[in-house]
Amino acid sequence: MSPEEKLNAKAYDQMEELRKRNAQAEEGGGPERREREHKQGKMTARERIEMLLDEGTFEELDKFVTHHCTDFGMEEQKPVGDGFVTGYGRVDGRLVYVFAQDFTVFGGSLSESNALKICKVMDLAMRNGAPVIGLNDSGGARIQEGVMSLAGYADIFLRNTLASGVVPQISAVMGPCAGGAVYSPAITDFILMTQETSYMFVTGPDVIKTVTHEEVTKHELGGAMTHNATSGVAHFVSRDDADCLGMIRELLSFVPSNNMEDPPRRATTDPWDRADQSLNTIVPVDPMVPYDIKDVITAVVDEHYFFEVHEHFAKNIVVGFARLDGRPVGIVANQPAMLAGCLDINASVKGARFVRFCDAFNIPLITFEDVPGFLPGTQQEFGGIIKHGAKLLFAFAEATVPKITVITRKAYGGAYCVMASKHIRTDTNYAWPTAEIAVMGPEGAVNIVYRRELDKTPAAEREKLRQEKIAEFRQRFANPYVSAERGYIDAVIEPSQTRPKLIAALRALENKRDTNPKKKHGNIPL
Ligand code: HXC
Repeated sequence: MSPEEKLNAKAYDQMEELRKRNAQAEEGGGPERREREHKQGKMTARERIEMLLDEGTFEELDKFVTHHCTDFGMEEQKPVGDGFVTGYGRVDGRLVYVFAQDFTVFGGSLSESNALKICKVMDLAMRNGAPVIGLNDSGGARIQEGVMSLAGYADIFLRNTLASGVVPQISAVMGPCAGGAVYSPAITDFILMTQETSYMFVTGPDVIKTVTHEEVTKHELGGAMTHNATSGVAHFVSRDDADCLGMIRELLSFVPSNNMEDPPRRATTDPWDRADQSLNTIVPVDPMVPYDIKDVITAVVDEHYFFEVHEHFAKNIVVGFARLDGRPVGIVANQPAMLAGCLDINASVKGARFVRFCDAFNIPLITFEDVPGFLPGTQQEFGGIIKHGAKLLFAFAEATVPKITVITRKAYGGAYCVMASKHIRTDTNYAWPTAEIAVMGPEGAVNIVYRRELDKTPAAEREKLRQEKIAEFRQRFANPYVSAERGYIDAVIEPSQTRPKLIAALRALENKRDTNPKKKHGNIPL
């Protein structure tokens, strides 16, 4: 063999070695375990990453990392890559960092080594100003590794916390997510869950049965709808893996890559000055009759498209993303079709978290307001509506992004102040002619202000007097003009003109700069 042939043979062997190792890493837990996942309707970690990212853009890191555990016979089982797939790629051409837990390798459990893999991509994401997407499917801490695994979780939690408000963090739960493992997704900005195959809980059904004697299934306890509709832990429910990955791509299209950038603009064919006559009659004549605020939102935004967040939780407030003039905006809206649009504990917390996300990532806030007040009741008061309601107030007040409010109907009491009123630095406040802005509704107000007079009035005439006073009160206060006289409302607008008015205001606010006093951080009432 000539020296040249020898060299070629060596290079051939080296390439073979590399190919073999790559194939071993891609093997995961083997065909049987992969088959088991597919039978449940789940994709593998690699299939998920491939579907999430733009075709051919995935660059894998740490593919050959192994665990270092020597207990419980683990030294005999050292799968290449140790079950986590990590790296970076593109979504709509934009850089993202990603990690995916492979359930076919030790149940996707977290070893010290793959905690380091996750930490590496998180550090890179922070350095390069790109979102982090975690695809979770794991039995939790690698039991054989003990405290090293716990340390790995804590290292990740720290990075989640430091990255919060710097780069968007999105967690998909596509299988089990149990124990302390839930706290990484919980710190991130959004949690998506797959309908049939995911569950999250701190303590599972067996522990619960032992401690509280309650019997509950995994899915009742921590399935997708439990967390989307009841606990509010999760923000989106998807039909399956493919649907979930599509939702992540969609969500990313509304957010900037980091807190120093503006959200990505997109060309729109929807005319900026499009009027919508249907809005002029959308508010029912009778103030007690509900209507669907989502009809107002979709009538106004680009291409009538609204990407709702937290759809199944606290439906009395609606939050989500849309575009106006091609520019992403965050929408917060009271929903008169649910609990008359009252603010309660859950609605306040839901709204506050969304407002803070938008503010952290330079997404202008559009508020549609129709709120009769805070929900009365012992359940609410004992549950701490005072501090929870204050969260929404705090979030709106500290937000420095462009803020625009449209009062469509009721704006009563403390809720008037909370819902992005002029007084808490909202830039542009519009009201429709149907707006009613007062301390409380005419009936309640008359019952308090005229109580003595009504009590003194003979029963036969009492109701007539009350109705007269209500009409007088409504005439005086249940309109937008008292506020407009004070400048608390910048303009009373024809509802059909809402889209052009919002876009004109947004354009004027394009270069808005506002800051809060220098401090370590505020103390939002948690
Ligand atoms: C090591 C694990 C594992 C774990 C599962 N496996 N969980 N290996 N550490 N935590 C392995 C199993 O041995 C099995 O290996 C394979 O993964 C698949 O698991 P199955 O049980 O066969 O799957 P399934 O029936 O689908 O049940 C999934 C499961 C169950 C419900 C997640 O595996 C389970 O209960 N796992 C333990 C969950 C748990 O208690 N984790 C610790 C939580 S405390 P083979 O070789 O048979 O395929 C925690 C603390 C974190 O996470 C604290 C951070 C602060």
